[in-house]
Amino acid sequence: MDHLERKSMVYLKNKLNGWLIKKMLIIEINTVLLNIDFNQLIMSNIFSNQIINPYFKELPRFTPKIKLGILASGKGSNLEAIIQDINRNILDAEIMCLIVNNNNCGAIEKAKKYNIPYSIIIHQEYKTRESLDEAIISKFNSYNVEAIVMVGWMRIVTNILLKEFRGKVINLHPSLLPSFKGKDSIKQALKNKVKFTGSTVHLVEEEVDSGEILVQTVLPINDSDNEDLLRERIKKQEHKIISLGIALAAMRWRK
Ligand code: GRF
Repeated sequence: MDHLERKSMVYLKNKLNGWLIKKMLIIEINTVLLNIDFNQLIMSNIFSNQIINPYFKELPRFTPKIKLGILASGKGSNLEAIIQDINRNILDAEIMCLIVNNNNCGAIEKAKKYNIPYSIIIHQEYKTRESLDEAIISKFNSYNVEAIVMVGWMRIVTNILLKEFRGKVINLHPSLLPSFKGKDSIKQALKNKVKFTGSTVHLVEEEVDSGEILVQTVLPINDSDNEDLLRERIKKQEHKIISLGIALAAMRWRK
């Protein structure tokens, strides 16, 4: 047994019910038995009761930095997580511009706090989804945006945008895709009484919440969870994976 295994066993003894059998860990979490390869386990966050897959200790580096355009219209907590990863030198990116479609959203406050240029594009002012996407493209192009990250963007994007930024549009969705696509995914997870849920960073394709999955985080649903509690727990996990998802996508186009 090496140092790490010994450390893990001490942790197991104190915190979780589990056994180490021939490099396989059998762990009980919330009465569910998980059978995990020890080597995979040390690459994951399961000791804090969540799993991130794939898990990287450090993100790959990018020179020049990835020039991001952000689409958001919610509280902006994931936008802030990206900004903080950039400021801590964890993610080699810069946020060129934020576009929101709701002039009252928290994302604008984050943009102001961190001095990020932002633009409000009200979707009701556009007759078609295509014309809205054209406005987004022209704004992002004027800021030399290289890739788009959607964090809480509640509009469906069209092929116009996907063609302009081919393979470079990323979305964050609060479920373990392909389960619970679309709106109300957290409500649906609770309604269906699934025992685990999470969040997914994926490449965007025209069909809603589809496209290659880049990274997922998994967490157990507690008996005491309601929609708000679960949403907050999911968001905490999202803050850990969003930059990783961006970096994994960038690795594909920066080969
Ligand atoms: C996140 O939970 C994301 O998965 C979903 O919208 C939420 C945005 O939250 N698409 P925030 O605005 O980043 O706090």
